Amino acid sequence: MKGIVLAGGSGTRMYPISKVYSKQLTLIYDKPLIYYPLSVLMLAGIKEILIISNEDTIPLYKKLFEDGSHVGLKISYAVQPAPRGIAESFVIGEKFIGDDSVSLILGDNIFYGKLDFFYKSVQENNSGATIFAYQVTDPQRYGIVEFDGNGKAISIEEKPKDPKSNFAVPGLYVYDNKIVNISKNLEPSARGELEITDVNREYLRLGELNVERIGRGVAWLDTGTPEALLKASQFFGVIEDRQGLKVACIEEIAYNQGFINRDQFAKLIESIPNSLYKEYLIKVLDD
Ligand code: G1P
Repeated sequence: MKGIVLAGGSGTRMYPISKVYSKQLTLIYDKPLIYYPLSVLMLAGIKEILIISNEDTIPLYKKLFEDGSHVGLKISYAVQPAPRGIAESFVIGEKFIGDDSVSLILGDNIFYGKLDFFYKSVQENNSGATIFAYQVTDPQRYGIVEFDGNGKAISIEEKPKDPKSNFAVPGLYVYDNKIVNISKNLEPSARGELEITDVNREYLRLGELNVERIGRGVAWLDTGTPEALLKASQFFGVIEDRQGLKVACIEEIAYNQGFINRDQFAKLIESIPNSLYKEYLIKVLDD
C-alpha cells in the first residue's frame, strides 16, 4: 500500500497568509498541520509516501521532510501545477502508485482517536474502494453519502444544497489499482476539478464501494478557517498538556512503529536544535 498526501489547494480562505504560505504548513499547536495527516498514514504502517503540492511549496516540504529516511519513510514529491481537483492526485501519482493500492489523505484533514477503521482497511487491502462517513452539522460543505434502510450507501453528492444525510466523506480514501484509470477517464466538474466524489460514484456504480461509518470517539477536525485552526490548536494543546504525550509526532511514531531503531532515533534527536520538541523526544528515548 502506497500513500499520498495532497497538500494542494489555494487556501484563499486564509488570506493574507495564503499569499505567501501553504495552509498545510500552518502551526497546529506545536507542529505543522501536515504532520497530522502524515502521521495517520504512518500509524497504518504506510512507508512509501508521495507529497503533492504546488510548485512554490514543494521546496518547503522537501526542506521539512527531505527523503523521509530519518523517520524510516521513503518520501517523494510531485507538483500539481494548478488546483485541478483531488482526483488529479492519481494521474500525477500514476508512476508512484505503479501496480499497488493507494491511500490518499488530504493535507488539511486531521483525525484523532481510535483510527482502527482506517488501519483495518489498509491491512485488509480489499479490491475496490473504501471511504468513510462522519456525521457533521454542516453537510453542505462536503461530499455527502446517503444510506438506505440497511445501511448500504446508495448515493454520493459533492457539496449538495439539499443534503440527503449528515454523513460527510472525510479526506481519507483507500483505493485498489483501478483508481489510476478511473481518475484518468474523469471529466472535470463545473468548477473545473477532477472530483473525488466522481471517483467514488464510479466505484459505487461498479458495486465496489465500501463505506465505513466512523462512530463516536473519533475527532475529524476542520481546518478551513482561521477560527477552525485556532480550535484545532486548542484541542491538541489541551490533550498534549494534560497527558504529556504528543499527538502526530512523526519522529516518535517512526520509533514506536519500528521504522527506525534506537540508534537511528538517538541520532535523529541529536540533529534537532534545542527545543521543547527535542526535550520531548529525549524523554521518549529515555522511557
Ligand atoms: C473535499 C472533497 C469533499 C470532502 C472534503 C473533505 O472538499 O471534495 O468531498 O468531503 O474534501 O475535507 P474541498 O476540500 O474541495 O472543499
